[in-house]
Amino acid sequence: MEHLAIIMDGNGRWAKARGLPRSEGHRAGGETVRRVLGFCQTAGIKYLTLYAFSVENWKRPKAEVDALMTLLVSYLAGEEEMLHKHQVRLRIMGRLEDLPEFAREALQRVERATETYERQLILCLSYGGRTEIAAAAKRLAERVAKGEIALEAIDEQLFAQHLYLPDVPDPDLIVRTSGEMRLSNFLLWQASYAELYVTPVLWPDFDQADFDAALAAFEKRERRYGGC
Ligand code: IPE
Ligand code: IPE
Ligand code: MG
Repeated sequence: MEHLAIIMDGNGRWAKARGLPRSEGHRAGGETVRRVLGFCQTAGIKYLTLYAFSVENWKRPKAEVDALMTLLVSYLAGEEEMLHKHQVRLRIMGRLEDLPEFAREALQRVERATETYERQLILCLSYGGRTEIAAAAKRLAERVAKGEIALEAIDEQLFAQHLYLPDVPDPDLIVRTSGEMRLSNFLLWQASYAELYVTPVLWPDFDQADFDAALAAFEKRERRYGGC
């Protein structure tokens, strides 16, 4: 498998079950990210995309959003050395302009510092699949208006080149933790032929055995892409 994408869900429920604040669930979820990065390294997965914060997540209470942004930056500070050690390139996918400046700066600095590495960790932040598709449509329309491209030239391939990270291949497998059977606006365009795997395990509890189970399930799938 070349590209694994994960909807990291269940941090809040994990914390609630322990009588802890939701932010503690997010902190524990950060530790899972650290672990999973290692599993992917061992499994030889080139792209790992993590859904960390959706455009809809801004609706959450300010205290939770603030805690998430602070956690993100402290996670980055703690992980930067590992990214270099394992030669992993950090990329952000989403409306980076929505993030507070301290988070944006930290993210962009690590993006630049790791940009020559082959393996990629893609963090979806202030990400929405519909937002991404609408932004691509807008950019295409602008280019048509300027006469840079002909209307007739627009096809799936050209459209996909206007998405956030056009060089990244579509995900092979999308894993969602916490049992919810939905995409929640994740990679709507790119997910068209991804295999889906939902586990009831909450993200902070997701471990090597759960990771192996997801990969084993994927290996058994027969991908037909509409053929027979
Ligand atoms: C996923 O955990 C992390 C984010 C969406 C930021 P949740 O915070 O959604 O946890 P639940 O779904 O409430 O348990
Ligand atoms: C999806 O989880 C977004 C992320 C994991 C970042 P949510 O918890 O926001 O999704 P819903 O509300 O259950 O659909
Ligand atoms: Mg959730």
